[in-house]
Amino acid sequence: LPCYLNGEFSKLRDARISVLDRGFIFGDGVYEVVPVYRGRPFRFAEHMARLDRSLGELRISNPMPHEQWRALVQELVDRYARMKGAPAAETDQIVYLQVTRGVAMRDHVMPKGITPTVFAMTNQLYIYPAEVRERGIACVTAEDFRWKKAHVKSISLAGAVLARQLSADEDAVETVMFRDGFLSEGSGSNIWVVKDGEVLGPPTDNLVLEGIRYGVIGELCRQHGIPFTLRRITREEVLAADEILVSSATKEVLPCTVLDGKPVGNGRPGPIYQKLYAGYQRAKQ
Ligand code: PDD
Repeated sequence: LPCYLNGEFSKLRDARISVLDRGFIFGDGVYEVVPVYRGRPFRFAEHMARLDRSLGELRISNPMPHEQWRALVQELVDRYARMKGAPAAETDQIVYLQVTRGVAMRDHVMPKGITPTVFAMTNQLYIYPAEVRERGIACVTAEDFRWKKAHVKSISLAGAVLARQLSADEDAVETVMFRDGFLSEGSGSNIWVVKDGEVLGPPTDNLVLEGIRYGVIGELCRQHGIPFTLRRITREEVLAADEILVSSATKEVLPCTVLDGKPVGNGRPGPIYQKLYAGYQRAKQ
């Protein structure tokens, strides 16, 4: 697989960084996951805006202008397509971008004058099989024990890994987290509740990562005349939902039909899911 590291493209298995990279030592960096459909990055400007916000929170200045990021991503996408022997315009990919503060002797204090480490890789976009979409996925609930800067797309992901494993241990696909009785998000996704034809999502404060799909789902709801509200959502409301939806770059939008072993609504993917999924497929074109 192709990758990019600090100005050079290489094979993923040949890329090397220092063990003193602050990404390795402290998880001191941020990332983005960008879907690429038929060779074209989807909502790239939004991903760049979020990258800037995450870097700003960590007080790292963006090492490259957006246009240079775009060129880098396009080059990776083309290299992947060439490797597959397909035109770029026929490949769907998932591009991972990462910036860490850089390399320095270990000291919690932010070192001055070091160069950020820039890394990017791409792979095929995993497509959830039709059976999964028809059946829906199982999720489990857990207390949100992560830090209170969940709005930063930080590479410090031990909390997310621990949370995700709770569902993996139950052969479920995602962990739906609550903080102080209110819905926050999934370990690697945003969670939506459908009640009486309305789509509800948690407010975009410091307790959730504002997925790029917040914007996409909001737009699709407006187009379909579906009421869309961001507000605090209680655990009881989640348990009484007609539908629960899970969204991310890799999941697009998936129906959660089983929560903690119990059916959600009638236990089948619902009409709002169907509309949003179909709308998402159109938006990708
Ligand atoms: N995860 N919330 C969290 C905690 C996430 O990690 C993600 C994405 C999202 C959804 O954001 P978006 O719609 O922009 O993908 C919400 C990515 C896909 C990952 O870590 O692989």
